[in-house]
Amino acid sequence: MSIYLGLDSSTQGLKAEIIDVAKGEVIFSKGINFGKDLPEYRCSDGFLENGDPLVKHADPLVWAAALDLLFSQMQQAGAPLSEVAGISGSGQQHGSVYLNDDFASVLAKLDPAKHLPVQIVPALSRMTSPIWMDSSTVLECEELEEEFGERLREETGSPAIARFTGPQIRKFWKDDPVGYENTATIHLVSSFLCSVLCGQSAPIDYGDGAGMNLLNLQTLKWDAEICEFTAPGLAAKLPSAAASNTIAGNLSAYFTKYGFKEGTPVAVWSGDNPNSLVGTGASGQGTAVISLGTSDTFFAAMQAPVTDPDGCGHVFGNPGGGFMSLICFTNGSLAREKVRDMCQVDWNFFDNEACKLTPPGNSGNMLLPYFTSETTPPIFVPKVVYKGSDDFVNGKADAGTMIRAILESQALSMRLHSSWIGEDFTRIRITGGASQCGDFRQILADVFQASIEQITVTDSAGLGAAMRAANAVAGISFADLGSAFAGTLAVTEPNPANAAVYDRALQEFKEFEANADVD
Ligand code: XUL
Repeated sequence: MSIYLGLDSSTQGLKAEIIDVAKGEVIFSKGINFGKDLPEYRCSDGFLENGDPLVKHADPLVWAAALDLLFSQMQQAGAPLSEVAGISGSGQQHGSVYLNDDFASVLAKLDPAKHLPVQIVPALSRMTSPIWMDSSTVLECEELEEEFGERLREETGSPAIARFTGPQIRKFWKDDPVGYENTATIHLVSSFLCSVLCGQSAPIDYGDGAGMNLLNLQTLKWDAEICEFTAPGLAAKLPSAAASNTIAGNLSAYFTKYGFKEGTPVAVWSGDNPNSLVGTGASGQGTAVISLGTSDTFFAAMQAPVTDPDGCGHVFGNPGGGFMSLICFTNGSLAREKVRDMCQVDWNFFDNEACKLTPPGNSGNMLLPYFTSETTPPIFVPKVVYKGSDDFVNGKADAGTMIRAILESQALSMRLHSSWIGEDFTRIRITGGASQCGDFRQILADVFQASIEQITVTDSAGLGAAMRAANAVAGISFADLGSAFAGTLAVTEPNPANAAVYDRALQEFKEFEANADVD
């Protein structure tokens, strides 16, 4: 009873993490890639080709096919599937799957002699699934904003957002009313895969449900008026919304062919960000997480669903109870790489030497690194803007000044755009590639005046899903699971002497950003 499986269905692949809570160890990990391992579904980067660059849809069958393939590979590799005492999962957020009246009967009689996709295809009422990368619903967002104004953000945790599921469903209803009419149930990627595992339609958890622009965060129910305006009769097509520790059902007999025990409990799945909050050991109050990837994200547990008046940050359900904030900065590693290329230096210089050549505050040199369009703040036309000395503004600054400028500006932007959460974080856990950079950790520690903990976790979403399974099935607390699985590699303490420098820099950065000539 100590082995739990977490699955992570991300944009580009499916991964599994098996944990043994008695040993406090991840005992098995394996992943497959949709492009490389399932090329017949034509979703190599996670989505189908489309003539319209704003449209990003995937074939939902690739997600089901990935379950078959990954489980058979795990079985061959000797994963202890018969010992798994509980399963949960993580899905890329916002993506939606459209199913007809046959879904329940198809799931109830899954035949182990056939693969999942051929059995599920007759239950699809829409052959493609819009995913989080889709931004083709600007018009639908305007319509929702016009109808509900501030209420939409205050109640659902976010203003109308193009990738969120509600605007996507509204577009489907407008573009294909017959297809919409033939849809009996709309699932998220997470609840769809959970349904397949337990052979019956599963609930949507509050974590992922809050990424739909449809869930009322006060009542934790679908908002009847917002649903009805989004698309007629929508509320009746949504699965119930449930707490993240709900057991959705027992594993379908279909999966015993891979060595699982029939009836293994399956906890509701959640979105990748709520799972990562758990997997980084930060689902309790007072700790924030900075994840440094292609995009950077800042997230933290919150007791009440306070929302961002600027509309950049989102509020989702926290699997540990209460809520969580999520703020995405699109120009993360992407911008750091651009600056490194501009300076023509290697990563060793970037990570370990550049900042030793320049003082905290960088003599007032800072930049707005919108190398590509940005989420926080919303910038549609890429543009990099410089402020500081003449040399810096004219692109003649030395590498040390440029590199400190990008790192300090990113840290200041994170502090500025997380202030709406209303908490002074004294502990921030940091993960992702750039967390290796000791100088960036020191800048973040000084800007936030917080201890920065570099953590050991690599797949926080998959690990978080396994931890959620252990919590839902055996009642093991997230605090205990966090100490066992999300250990600290190194702690960087803030230098109090730099607090005033960065308080001043924050004011300057705020004015710079507010007055910059950007669209
Ligand atoms: C969050 C978001 C992404 C996806 C895919 O709002 O769109 O983080 O969850 O990872």
